[in-house]
Amino acid sequence: MNVFFVNFMFLVYFGLCQSRRYDNFTLYSATPTEQYQLNFLQNLQSQKYIDVIFWKRPSKLFNDVHFIVNPIDSELFQERLNHFKLEVHTLIPNIQSAFDSQKIKKYTSLKTDSFTWDSYHSLEDIYQWISDVALKFPKTVELHSIGKSVEGRDIYAIFIKISNNKANVIIDAGIHGHEWISTAFVTFLIKKLIYAQDIGDDRLNELANKYNWFIIPIVNPDGFDYSIKVDRLWRKNRRKFDNGEGVDLNRNFDHNFGKYETSTNPKDDNYCGPAPFSEPESKALSEFITEKREHLKFYISFHAYGQKLIIPYGDRIKHVENFSEMDNFGKQAILRMYKLNGVKYSIGTTYDTLGVRVSGSSTSWVKNNYKPKYVITFLLRDNGTYGFALPNEQIMPTCQETLIGLVELMTAKPRRVRADLFNASYKITANVMLLITLCFLK
Ligand SMILES: *[C@@H]1O[C@H](CO)[C@@H](O)[C@H](O)[C@H]1NC(C)=O
Ligand SMILES: *[C@@H]1O[C@H](CO)[C@@H](O)[C@H](O)[C@H]1NC(C)=O
Ligand SMILES: *[C@@H]1O[C@H](CO)[C@@H](O)[C@H](O)[C@H]1NC(C)=O
Ligand SMILES: *[C@@H]1O[C@H](CO)[C@@H](O)[C@H](O)[C@H]1NC(C)=O
Ligand SMILES: [Zn+2]
Repeated sequence: MNVFFVNFMFLVYFGLCQSRRYDNFTLYSATPTEQYQLNFLQNLQSQKYIDVIFWKRPSKLFNDVHFIVNPIDSELFQERLNHFKLEVHTLIPNIQSAFDSQKIKKYTSLKTDSFTWDSYHSLEDIYQWISDVALKFPKTVELHSIGKSVEGRDIYAIFIKISNNKANVIIDAGIHGHEWISTAFVTFLIKKLIYAQDIGDDRLNELANKYNWFIIPIVNPDGFDYSIKVDRLWRKNRRKFDNGEGVDLNRNFDHNFGKYETSTNPKDDNYCGPAPFSEPESKALSEFITEKREHLKFYISFHAYGQKLIIPYGDRIKHVENFSEMDNFGKQAILRMYKLNGVKYSIGTTYDTLGVRVSGSSTSWVKNNYKPKYVITFLLRDNGTYGFALPNEQIMPTCQETLIGLVELMTAKPRRVRADLFNASYKITANVMLLITLCFLK
């Protein structure tokens, strides 16, 4: 093969030929400021008389809501908006075209360095790449299957162990099929940890050496694959029921099961399943965590989207003991991320940041059962401009800022940070920038 042909092969992208299409579905945001507007949005969600899919559900007054609307219902929808005097902003007029530009790049087996973060990757290619990486670095990287999905796919954990250490870090991603950026980031993290010594980043290198890293890049392989091949917005696993399909794995953990922000209807996107750990994916992850629970120092879960750092417990309004230390480290991470790319994250419990409580999440279950010192969830980019249609060009900057934030969070020491910089609604001005700088000089 000549060089030209080889280069050409590296650049094969493929678009998606999904069977569920979202042609002319429009992405909107709205902020209910009156109770009747909030009620209207909540009814829309429960009664489904208009074909609306929520990307960010209605929670409370003044919290923004994101949703897509089927074009066949656009007249009725406009009429209802006028009736409730609800103002909406059109974010993306045709969501299908935004999905179509989320290209998938083909990876060539064994060319581990050709795997890049300028496009998304298929499940097969990600699995091929991690197995190639394990083959290439046999002394530091191990690949283990921790169980099988409903459709019989392996769920892999990658162990990265550069020197002999006791403290464990467990990372989960891809628990929701359509949150592709979460898996993109952890594959980036895997590469950076393996090459930490060569990169010349002392703090990253220190972290790579200090912990045993256990990374599960795709907890929900069936849902991830289905989101790539069939329905871009598929979130759950692929369990079949008589009256619907799929369980939301991040509602299926045995922590206050079935109580908040979840559904008992298999047709719903947040269906919790028939019983705690009814699903092989959540069960496999929980058993893996149980196996590694000793010396578990960090448990970190990656999701999208919303630009938030979320501290347990998901089902509580009150902050638990040790909240403040995680909060302090998280704020330092947020300042670093802001300084790098100007992205704004907010921090708090699920209730603080999203205005809802949730049950059955992996992080709350881990925190409650094994009390690791640091448990946190990253909701990665963006803030709603593209949502799940995050363009390829944003993958790399998202990975870079998230890595910097993660390193900061994991190496931070308690220090004073301005409390009010982190409210979701806070506008960053020149004065605030000055304050951020001052905070770092202290
Ligand atoms: C989407 O809308 C455009 C413009 O109104 C129209 O030409 C096109 O046929 C629509 N596409 C589908 C698949 O309905
Ligand atoms: C809070 O931190 C202390 C000291 O690190 C630890 O002993 C305690 O178990 C922690 N509590 C929780 C709920 O994590
Ligand atoms: C989201 O971020 C973009 C780009 O930084 C900004 O233009 C937009 O106003 C932000 N939207 C919200 C709701 O904060
Ligand atoms: C930020 O949030 C804190 C606690 O929720 C609150 O006390 C404070 O007034 C808020 N500040 C701004 C500027 O909204
Ligand atoms: Zn998620």
